[in-house]
Amino acid sequence: TNDELHARIAAAKASLGDRVVILGHYYQRDEIVAYADFVGDSFQLAGAALTRPDAEAIVFCGVHFMAETADILAREEQTVILPNLAAGCSMADMADEDSVEAAWAELAQVYRFDPDETVGPDWFERHPGGKLPVVPVTYMNSSAALKAFCGRHGGIVCTSSNARTVLEWAFARGERVLFFPDQHLGRNTAKAMGVPLAAMPMWNPRKPLGGNDAEALRDARVILWHGFCSVHKRFTTAQIAAAREAHPGVQVVVHPECPMAVVDAADAAGSTELIRQFVADAEPGSTIAIGTEINMVNRLAAQHPDKTIFCLDPVVCPCSTMYRIHPGYLAWTLESLAAGEVVNEIQVDPDVARHARTALERMLAAAP
Ligand code: 13P
Ligand code: SF4
Repeated sequence: TNDELHARIAAAKASLGDRVVILGHYYQRDEIVAYADFVGDSFQLAGAALTRPDAEAIVFCGVHFMAETADILAREEQTVILPNLAAGCSMADMADEDSVEAAWAELAQVYRFDPDETVGPDWFERHPGGKLPVVPVTYMNSSAALKAFCGRHGGIVCTSSNARTVLEWAFARGERVLFFPDQHLGRNTAKAMGVPLAAMPMWNPRKPLGGNDAEALRDARVILWHGFCSVHKRFTTAQIAAAREAHPGVQVVVHPECPMAVVDAADAAGSTELIRQFVADAEPGSTIAIGTEINMVNRLAAQHPDKTIFCLDPVVCPCSTMYRIHPGYLAWTLESLAAGEVVNEIQVDPDVARHARTALERMLAAAP
């Protein structure tokens, strides 16, 4: 039963004490969040992994790319555990290393650079004012291999909470940006910075060189990958219009993984932490419609009984992979750890980790 599971988790966690730190993303179920030492957005959780160098294990209740990031940033001796290895992210899977390498090779022909040339961690320091033809920027929601790709090619990682600062960093160091995997975060962020839509062509991997509009590529500032989040792409402007009609005075806040028209129609857009803060700061009695994952929306509603809080999507909007972190898996991984056995460890290849760390550290330096 659930009570038994909770007793098992509590007992295993208590017996491990400071040996383990449990991180939980805002989209996790309440039954998991209850045991997390830190709850946050993906940027905050990357930082949280660094705050407990004494812990021998980091149990990451989130999705695969988050656990990989923790493993890259954590001390080598620390073990990172993902309670269910099937907790991936469909958006992260939309950009694989081979497709990005292939696009890079084609872009190298268009913009005349050597695709194999790597840019060491100190390249920008050694070339003050120097600009690369293309700076690759990967959203945190991507594999470690793609973060390493960015690390090798003068690129950087961003999250939804620092995408604008990171794009400013990239524009200062490159003529243009290749942004992957999320087209929406890339488009919404660049648009807010004043980049015209015409300067944001979408890379079409199915067309050979030349199939992509040469003129659009020439004037491009941001070349967008075709990825998207299947949870956030469901939100529509019709839902916002319906919420405004049914609740005059409603404030609408959405995640920037939503399509552009939805972000434009909302009152605010930002990371899960921004959404949490938006709700916390709202006046008692206010009504807020949220465009993000349902576990987080329901929790915010429960935490703020003095406000009317609901999800823009009247059906349901769970992230099915976040949901795969069932309490049963947390109990199992913690009990195993207490018994001296590590299960479901996430271990990034050291060479991949080294380059990925370069890109992550650029982000941490640009947007601390
Ligand atoms: P945040 O960085 O806003 O937590 O977003 C992570 C994510 O996966 C959103 O879908
Ligand atoms: Fe990935 Fe979307 Fe789930 Fe976030 S909500 S983990 S982007 S599938």
